[in-house]
Amino acid sequence: MLSENAEVKPHPVEQPKDLFKKCFDFTLADEVKAQGIYPFFHPIDETEGPVVSFGGRKLVMAGSNNYLGLTSDERVKQASIDAIRRYGTSCSGSRYMTGTVNLHVELEEKLADFFEKERCLLFSTGYQTGQGIIPTLVQRGEYIVSDRDNHASLVAASIMAQGAGANLVRYNHNNMADLERVLQKIPASAGRMIVSDGVFSVSGEIVDLPGLVTLAKKYNARIVIDDAHAVGVIGRNGRGTPSEFDLVDDVDLIMGTFSKTFGSLGGYVVGDRSVINYIKHNASSLIFSASPTPASVAAVLASLEIIRNEPELMTRLIANTDYVRKGLLKEGFDLMPSRTAIVTVLISDQMKTLVFWKKLFEAGVYVNAFIRPGVMPGHEALRTSFMASHEKEHLDKVIAEFATIGRELGVI
Ligand SMILES: Cc1ncc(COP(=O)(O)O)c(C=O)c1O
Repeated sequence: MLSENAEVKPHPVEQPKDLFKKCFDFTLADEVKAQGIYPFFHPIDETEGPVVSFGGRKLVMAGSNNYLGLTSDERVKQASIDAIRRYGTSCSGSRYMTGTVNLHVELEEKLADFFEKERCLLFSTGYQTGQGIIPTLVQRGEYIVSDRDNHASLVAASIMAQGAGANLVRYNHNNMADLERVLQKIPASAGRMIVSDGVFSVSGEIVDLPGLVTLAKKYNARIVIDDAHAVGVIGRNGRGTPSEFDLVDDVDLIMGTFSKTFGSLGGYVVGDRSVINYIKHNASSLIFSASPTPASVAAVLASLEIIRNEPELMTRLIANTDYVRKGLLKEGFDLMPSRTAIVTVLISDQMKTLVFWKKLFEAGVYVNAFIRPGVMPGHEALRTSFMASHEKEHLDKVIAEFATIGRELGVI
């Protein structure tokens, strides 16, 4: 207690911290822009698929996930136009409420059939699909067992579940011995879900699914595979990773996106009736977000028909990618292991990656620069990906420009 005569000292006046200080202090993007090597957010003004135009200048697109070239297929475009005519431009609501149209139901039935599972559920993006599955199914005290190289959307979904009391444990990338070490430590009383990309998005590497399934059976874990980069690329008629290994019945949930091979926007999960039904009535990212637009869904329906009926597209895609992979290896580049549609060239230095990217851009080749936070320091890379619609002249240009610039920068 203060005596009556005690001197009352004023509190030092400290300016309360401004939440936005971090934004004002963030200068990296502006510094890179000032050096003319900023590789992000460049607006494309026209696209024909394998060739795109930036400010009127034509470049070979070697960084798109439009693997079968379906975004510019006339049948896919027409399906979207027809859907807009019939249903308008938006459903203006969630699937749960007023946002379901016939096309959503038709696509769910056709995808369940294609992926040889009982049921399918659509989401508005692939990102939201992970958020709809993981925090909904893995609850307080239960375990998410996640590959360290999983896509950022799966990491975000897992952290969301963790916030609600689930446990998140990670195992070293595609390392089955480490996965077993992690599974052994989980108490028998807790449910567990192993989550992995089917085809890893940075490298294009395929998960060791037989190893993963063996361990899941041994430790009674459920499996979710994110097949974003596998559909239309591997598996019987492009059915993805579980089909590639003939393990469809052993994978509990297969999820994916429409933003890659399907040439559209949205996401899906397929699995057993009761599990899909539970997600459908509990997933916040489904219930509280507007449904995929009729135009997006109609494009997927048209793409699905093409994927089913034109396997030659997949054959061409794999041949195109193999051609570039062999060409770059012959030139002496260090590539990440892959036999899918992704060819990732390791540069292992942030500045060199950005300069290499810029020189490719100027030479007429558009690729993706992977720097922090997309990859860890020391793993910087140029990620290229190919389409069924690339011609040999496009692929030769990619290899030739990589070789010239690679020599100039001392990468090869
Ligand atoms: C493995 C993986 N999962 C999910 C997503 C997210 O999909 P979407 O673009 O539909 O949000 C991506 C897209 O980059 C991805 O590569």
